[in-house]
Amino acid sequence: MCENDGMKETIRVAVTGAAGNIGYALLWRIASGDCFGSNQPVTLQLLEIPSGMQRLDGVIMELKDSAFPLIHGIVGTDDPSIAFKDADAIFLVGSRPRTKDMDRADLVAANGPIFVGQGQAIDAVASQNVKVITVGNPCNTNALIACANAPSIPSKQFTAMTRLDQNRAVGQMAERAGVSASKIQDVFIWGNHANTMYPDPRFASVDGKEATHVFSEDWLQGDFLGTVATRGKAIIEARGASSAASAASAAVDHMRDWWQGSNGRIVSMALPSEGWYGVPEGLVFSFPCRCENGEVIVVDNLDIDAFAQSKIDENITALLEEREAVSELLGH
Ligand code: NAD
Ligand code: LMR
Repeated sequence: MCENDGMKETIRVAVTGAAGNIGYALLWRIASGDCFGSNQPVTLQLLEIPSGMQRLDGVIMELKDSAFPLIHGIVGTDDPSIAFKDADAIFLVGSRPRTKDMDRADLVAANGPIFVGQGQAIDAVASQNVKVITVGNPCNTNALIACANAPSIPSKQFTAMTRLDQNRAVGQMAERAGVSASKIQDVFIWGNHANTMYPDPRFASVDGKEATHVFSEDWLQGDFLGTVATRGKAIIEARGASSAASAASAAVDHMRDWWQGSNGRIVSMALPSEGWYGVPEGLVFSFPCRCENGEVIVVDNLDIDAFAQSKIDENITALLEEREAVSELLGH
C-alpha cells in the first residue's frame, strides 16, 4: 500500500505574520491536521516583513523538526505574491497588536495600509476559490480593505474573525452553568470585533435548555456581554500581550468549519453584508452563519428584539465610521 492512500491532493495555505505570537500557535494546529483534516496534506506559504525573516527562519526550522506527516512543503518569504501564489486558504494575521491604552480601532491607521497591497496580491495570484480569514485588527475593516482591493475574487470569500468572541461567550456560559463547553450551542456574535459587539444568547442552549431560561437577563445583558466584549483588553492587562493561543484556536475553528462544515451549528463569521438584517451592503459584519459544502450561509430569518436591534445599530454606526476613516484605502 502506498503511504498516500486515502490522502487528498495537497492544498496551499498562506499565513501572514507567521513569526508572530499567533503564528507560533496557529502553524502547529494547521500542521497537525486540526483545521483541514487528517487526510489533507498542506504546503505552508509563510509571509513576514523583512525584519521578521530571521525569526521566520527559526519557526520553519522548528516546523521541520516537528516532522508533521501532513506538511508537504514550507515556503518562507517577504513577498506577498509568493506567499499567496495559488493559495487555497489564507490567514491574514500579520499586523501590529494594540497596547493597553488603545482600542482596536486605533490600529486602523497602522494596519489598514497592509491590507491594500495584500488584497491586490491575493487578487493577482491566489486561487479564485481562496478562503480568506482576517485576524489582524481591526479585523472587520481590514477584511473590507483586502476585499475592496481584490475585485476579481467574490467578496463572500473574505471574512473576519469573531469566533474568538463566540468562544469567549461559550466559555463564560459554561463556567456559570457549571457544564463543559460542549454543552453550549448556538450563541453567536453580531457586528464588529470591538467593544460594541453583541454576543446574542437568545437562540443559545445550555445542555439542551434555553440559555435565556438558565441565565438572568441582568447577567446576559450586563456582566456576560461586558466580559465578552472587553476580554481582549483584560487579557492584554493580565498577560502584557494580546491573546495569542486562544486567537489561533479560534482561527482554526473558523477555517475548519468553513472548510469542513459546521454540522448544522450556528457559528459567528464576519463577512461583507448583502443587506442581511438591514446592515448596509459591503460592511464586514459578524452574522449568525452555518457552513456547508465549503460555503458560508447567513442565517437570515432570526427574530430581532429591541435590545438586539439597538446593538446591531450601534455596530453599523461604528463600522460605517471605520469605513469612512479608510475610504482612501478602498481602491474606488
Ligand atoms: P505579533 O506582533 O506577535 O505578530 C505579528 C507579526 O506580523 C510580526 O511577526 C510582524 O513582523 C508581522 N507583520 C507585521 N506586518 C506585516 C506585514 N505587512 N506582512 C506580514 N507580516 C507582518 O502579533 P500577534 O499577537 O500575532 O497579533 C497579530 C494581529 O492579530 C494583531 O493585529 C492583533 O491585534 C490581532 N488579533 C486579532 C484577534 C481577533 O480576534 N480578531 C485576536 C487576537 C489578536
Ligand atoms: C482580542 O480580542 O483578544 C484581540 O482582538 C486583541 C485585542 O486587541 O483585543
